[in-house]
Amino acid sequence: MTSGRKRRGRLVRSAPSDGERTRALVLCPITKTTADTGSRGEGGAAASQPPPQYRLEEAVGLARAIELEIVSSGIVPLPRIRPATLFGSGKVDEFAGLIHVEKVGLVIVDHALSPVQQRNLERAWGTKVLDRTGLILEIFGRRARTKEGRLQVELAHLTYQKSRLVRSWTHLERQRGGFGFLGGPGETQIESDRRVIQDRIGAIHKDLERVKRTRHLHRRSRERVPYPVVALVGYTNAGKSTLFNRLSGAEVYAKDLLFATLDPTMREVQLPGSGRIILSDTVGFISQLPTTLIAAFRATLEEVLEADLLLHVRDVAHAESDSQRDDVEDVLRAMGLEPTERGARIIEVWNKIDLMPDAEAETVRNRAQRSDGKAVVISAVSGEGIDDLLVAIEANLERLHVVMDIEVDAANGALINWLYENADVLEREAEETQTLRYRIRISSAKRDRLLARLKAETLPGT
Ligand code: GTP
Repeated sequence: MTSGRKRRGRLVRSAPSDGERTRALVLCPITKTTADTGSRGEGGAAASQPPPQYRLEEAVGLARAIELEIVSSGIVPLPRIRPATLFGSGKVDEFAGLIHVEKVGLVIVDHALSPVQQRNLERAWGTKVLDRTGLILEIFGRRARTKEGRLQVELAHLTYQKSRLVRSWTHLERQRGGFGFLGGPGETQIESDRRVIQDRIGAIHKDLERVKRTRHLHRRSRERVPYPVVALVGYTNAGKSTLFNRLSGAEVYAKDLLFATLDPTMREVQLPGSGRIILSDTVGFISQLPTTLIAAFRATLEEVLEADLLLHVRDVAHAESDSQRDDVEDVLRAMGLEPTERGARIIEVWNKIDLMPDAEAETVRNRAQRSDGKAVVISAVSGEGIDDLLVAIEANLERLHVVMDIEVDAANGALINWLYENADVLEREAEETQTLRYRIRISSAKRDRLLARLKAETLPGT
């Protein structure tokens, strides 16, 4: 094994660093099918897969996000999958030697592992083993910032643990804000583990119900705020938090780590016209997000589903930018948001243009210009394109229309005039009680202004 460029089937040893962090080995198994068709056959959202080298880099990036010290990493071709150990016995022995020499404390296998495969590998290597779902759960656990986010991750984590109680390491102990994959104390009895897990799952369900009620109240109060909600979505590390900060002037945690955000954060932003929006920063997406996790995070992602407009932030300078876009769209689809609607509800924000060579950047700018407002080129770091983005947000909100029913006092001529000037009146019904009932079609931006006006008129003294 040598250091240098990573090549298929070879492991790359990373430079040694401090002995504080868990020393980890990252393995990216590639089956013949995966290599040929790009499909991994794992419980993920995306049907097609990026090239092996990209997958390896992503796995290493994810492992770094939980501050592991990566002592070695590599792509491992798998001629066939062994039910007992995933890898063939030769490979298992080869890695055992490496694990021993490098004092590896954790092996990350970027693939789905059955409980039996995981246990057998842990025994053979005398170290802990995490598969892809386990790794993502660990990261989500550390990144969750709200109570609901933390509970959802813990629930997903416990459900995952319950299905793998054949294993020899217990995962019930928490460590450093994660949910304990990296800190298990050793053998425990399966039965008591199962009982503890079941009790905890019951308690979390109750807590979640309480938290959800509170969140529902928060949302109701936000609904009364008369601004459209614009949510940032995008592949992890695309630059959502950086853009959020630039647009809102807020200090949200932005670091060159994958998954720097998990829970939505909201800020008010002034648009160039008279409008305002609520900007919502959301979770970073990732390729092959296991479907069980999508279900677990649905509630958190409801913010995305309910937004008036989505800004899909993309790292256009990234070599795999297109497949990252597909991954994000697959996750949105899995959440029930059909990307074919995206003409209406999504603006693509092509970020990090400052990282592209001039000629390529120019081509990208030209493409965006021909996109009819569907794509805007920006650099969240340098500020290029931010004004154009705000204009595009405003224009899109004007274009989006909703149908709504309202009641108006027949004597309120000013409001009735406003309706005819700003909305399409579809139906009008007169009630005996001096109330007029209108069905109107109105842009979502104007709807919010209308709601604000109605609210102000019903408040005493206004
Ligand atoms: P997650 O929370 O993991 O989903 O990430 P994110 O999409 O919120 O990304 P974040 O804003 O944390 O940015 C990731 C990294 O990209 C940080 O190091 C940013 O400084 C960097 N970055 C973001 N936007 C730009 C940009 O326009 N140009 C350059 N050069 N770097 C950028």
